Amino acid sequence: MAIQTQDTLDIQTMQRVSRRDFLAFCSLMAGALALPKGSEELIKEALTSAKRTPVIWLELQDCAGCSEAFLRSSSPTAAEVVLDILSVDYHETIMAASGKRAEEAKQATIAAGGYLLVVEGSISQGDDGVYCCVSGKSSVQLLEEAAKNAIAVVAVGNCATFGGIPRAVPNPTKAVSVMDLVKDKPVLNIPGCPMNPVNLTATVVHFLTFGSLPEMDNLHRPLFAFGHLIHDNCERRGHFDAGEFVREWGDAGHRAGWCMYKMGCKGPMSYHNCPTVRFNEGVNWPIGAGHPCIGCSEPGFWDIPTYEPIELANFTPPALFPAIIPPQNEISPVGAAIAGGTLGIIAGAAGAFAYKMMTEQAEKAQKLDEQTNSAKEPPESHVE
Ligand code: SF4
Ligand code: F3S
Repeated sequence: MAIQTQDTLDIQTMQRVSRRDFLAFCSLMAGALALPKGSEELIKEALTSAKRTPVIWLELQDCAGCSEAFLRSSSPTAAEVVLDILSVDYHETIMAASGKRAEEAKQATIAAGGYLLVVEGSISQGDDGVYCCVSGKSSVQLLEEAAKNAIAVVAVGNCATFGGIPRAVPNPTKAVSVMDLVKDKPVLNIPGCPMNPVNLTATVVHFLTFGSLPEMDNLHRPLFAFGHLIHDNCERRGHFDAGEFVREWGDAGHRAGWCMYKMGCKGPMSYHNCPTVRFNEGVNWPIGAGHPCIGCSEPGFWDIPTYEPIELANFTPPALFPAIIPPQNEISPVGAAIAGGTLGIIAGAAGAFAYKMMTEQAEKAQKLDEQTNSAKEPPESHVE
């Protein structure tokens, strides 16, 4: 049995995580981080020998949705593993202490330094910060105070990363994001509304395994989670390429799982790994559940009308689009759709197969519509 002191971790005895679950967790993390084969071993070693890293988790202008998402994650036992490899010294929502004692715990951690700062919620700059105060300090003061001795700052959820709902026009509290204010520390953003707990867990695991934050894009988002457009991995992409769109909520195309671009889907402009990681232990994700993506991983998404189609100005799939009249001896619209679906879908999504299945479902749904409701026209198969 591994030695267990106050500062070392015997992950299999300290907590309720079986060896099997722990190894599954290491594999999941290696996959989420897109690490090469064999990295599970590296992660396992790092996590079983890691000193518990202190964490201060601030909640500012937020709804606590990201805390909820994290605490309810269990795939497999992600939150349990991370909560045991981290020492969460301050988190207003979950800590037992309150008031003066909670404040003392935070001040002691700040004074000792060497902690990770997680921030949930936006920061209010309006009217001297009166809209968000804890222990007599404004959110600006709380962030400055907690960031000064942190190793790095991880902003979670759209509010902390980009301002989120509080920053939506007319932004009455003059809300800003963490990266608007913290300039002298590494800041990593995990947007989402709420963030996907797998992405926070994988970031922490990367930090503990390699001693650094993962590679990021120009909006400080880790590339392993935000490196691809949702549209490129979407299981409905074959329908987009074939010009098969939902036209009305509940129509045959909607029930058959066709593309929701015309219903306002923001997948073509949103970078996030939801199609592959999904939510609730991989059960489903917004588009899989029949709702368009609303772009919760992007700046300013609350100001973009949810159900209005976006311009595809920056998105250029012409090589994959089916031609209106297929040229002789060249790929047919269906062939192009299958090719588009297959090329666009990464990491285990079965593009052509999904396309075929959905097309069959669509045909069945159309027939059903014709039989049961002759007054209602089924959606056309649009080629645009
Ligand atoms: Fe999927 Fe939306 Fe793209 Fe359609 S527009 S393929 S539903 S991401
Ligand atoms: Fe958000 Fe769109 Fe994913 S709404 S959760 S980025 S599908």
